Amino acid sequence: MAKILIAYASANGMTRECAERLARELDGKDVVLCDLAKETPEFADFDVLVAGSSVRRGKLLPPARAFLETMAREGGERPVGVFLCCGFADRFEEYRERLIPKAIRERAFLIANFGGTLNPSGKPFWDKLWLFFARSSVVESEIDDGEYTPVLPGMIPENIGQMASFARTELAGKPNKNV
Ligand SMILES: Cc1cc2nc3c(=O)[nH]c(=O)nc-3n(C[C@H](O)[C@H](O)[C@H](O)COP(=O)(O)O)c2cc1C
Repeated sequence: MAKILIAYASANGMTRECAERLARELDGKDVVLCDLAKETPEFADFDVLVAGSSVRRGKLLPPARAFLETMAREGGERPVGVFLCCGFADRFEEYRERLIPKAIRERAFLIANFGGTLNPSGKPFWDKLWLFFARSSVVESEIDDGEYTPVLPGMIPENIGQMASFARTELAGKPNKNV
C-alpha cells in the first residue's frame, strides 16, 4: 500500500492535534505521523508527503522550516501537501508566500490553513501574555467594527478534510510503490 508521511512541528499542541485529526481522516491508509522536534523522517520511505507548522512571531517553527527546505531540495517528485496553523487567518496568504519555499509552493497539491488558537489558557507564561494581547486586539477591532460577538480563531475541520481528500487522490495514483 502507498505510504503517507504527516510531519509536523507544534509549540503548544494545536498543530499536533490537526496532524492527528488528518491522520484519523486517512483511516485505512498507511499513515505515519512524525513530530519533527523528535525525529527526522527519510523521504525514501514515503510516496506522499504532508508537512505542517504553526506560525509564531511571523515565522515557522525551526524544525518545520528546516524540513521544508530539505523537502524542496531532496523530496524528489513526491506529491506534497503543506498546512499552517496560525492565529490570524487574514495573514495566511502572506505567510504562505513568504514562509513556504517557492519550489514547494509550485508543486504542492494543497497548501491549507488548518486554523489556530489565540486562547491563552493553559499555555506557558510568555505565550499566555502574547496570546492575551493578540486576543484583545482581535476583540477590540471587532468591537470597533460594531460587532459585539467577536469571532476568535479555532481549528478549521473542513480544510483538514480537504487535505485528506486530496491526499487520498494522490495515494490512489501511487499504488504499491513501497511494497
Ligand atoms: C508566542 C506566540 C506567537 C505567535 N505568533 C503568531 C503570528 O505571528 N501569527 C499568527 O497568525 N499566529 C501567531 N500565534 C498564534 C499561533 O499560531 C496559534 O496559537 C497556533 O494555534 C499555535 O499552534 P501550536 O500550538 O501547534 O504551536 C502565536 C502564538 C504564540 C503563543
